[in-house]
Amino acid sequence: MTAVTPLVAPNAVGDFTIRDVIEGQTAGQLIVAADDWGWWATLLTGDTVAPTTGIQQTVADGLIRAGFLHRRGRRYELTHTGHDVAKNRGFVRVAVRGWEPTFRQLSDNPHLPHIPAATEPGEVARGCSDIGRRRPEIFETIGRAIDDDTPGCTVDLGCADAGRVKALAALAPRERFLGVDIEAGVIADATAELTPLGIADRVTLLAGSVQPEPQPPAWLEAVDRNAVTTAMSFFLLHQLASDGAGIATVLSGWMDWFPNVRRLVIGDGYLLEAPHWTQQPWFSPTYEIYHSITGVRLWTRQEYEDAFAALGWSVTRRMEDHTMLVTTILERG
Ligand SMILES: C[S@@+](CC[C@H](N)C(=O)[O-])C[C@H]1O[C@@H](n2cnc3c(N)ncnc32)[C@H](O)[C@@H]1O
Repeated sequence: MTAVTPLVAPNAVGDFTIRDVIEGQTAGQLIVAADDWGWWATLLTGDTVAPTTGIQQTVADGLIRAGFLHRRGRRYELTHTGHDVAKNRGFVRVAVRGWEPTFRQLSDNPHLPHIPAATEPGEVARGCSDIGRRRPEIFETIGRAIDDDTPGCTVDLGCADAGRVKALAALAPRERFLGVDIEAGVIADATAELTPLGIADRVTLLAGSVQPEPQPPAWLEAVDRNAVTTAMSFFLLHQLASDGAGIATVLSGWMDWFPNVRRLVIGDGYLLEAPHWTQQPWFSPTYEIYHSITGVRLWTRQEYEDAFAALGWSVTRRMEDHTMLVTTILERG
């Protein structure tokens, strides 16, 4: 008998299967719903959770079948994989909820060169803050650098829901903070949360654009520009550099706004290219594909470092989180 040659090449190691595509989508929805119920935050403290409704029971069963939870009596606890999911749930929220409106528009717009980002701003903000919170030691390093220095004012450009500002305000109690983001609704919600945290007297949040333009933005008039000593920006510089004239142009615009800035803290996703989806670390293909759709350029580590050096900034710390997510602390040489 002759061997039958398969018509379709067997699935190469690392390729996606139809099962990954469909079940991954469902798992993502369940992960976000469980997050909205506070389950992951509770589970990460080592506590168990207990569903209280039929819907919650269905979600818990789905999370068990996915391998993220296991049952202990009538309660549920994290598996090893579930721990990984809980820690990284911000990435799931950004991809499943935050960026979904952009991906949805592909269907009706095959003729467009790019699809302008149409995000769910609150979901992106919360997801990004959760991404930041995964690595408290990065906050601690930034907080220590600020707190060890003479007290000044730290600005977070594109602060979203001020998750990073709040974490750093706790670590550097003598520092004042200013956060600016283009999403006025996100800023209003974040401002309402400052008073209960007891930091409203030294944290100011303003709505507006931080893209340097020929005319300074209106929010800058409400700010003591000379008081700013640290400028931070996380996961926004790539976009501003792409919309504008490159990384160095944006940074030098910020240096003009804040003439006494002596420390920069820049977190961003670096471009890591590979022809095959699964050859890249997780999330980098999604990040890359999302940005190609929106026409926003991603930049290599070399491009960031060339711009830093051209403006006289020296790297004092480089902290890799996920392989492509890098936070750099710089001081003026
Ligand atoms: C990917 S999120 C990063 C949020 C936050 N920096 C973090 O890392 O957790 C990008 C943020 O930049 C804000 N943004 C986009 N364009 C902006 C602009 N021109 N000026 C100020 N903020 C902007 C968005 O509203 C969003 O909150």
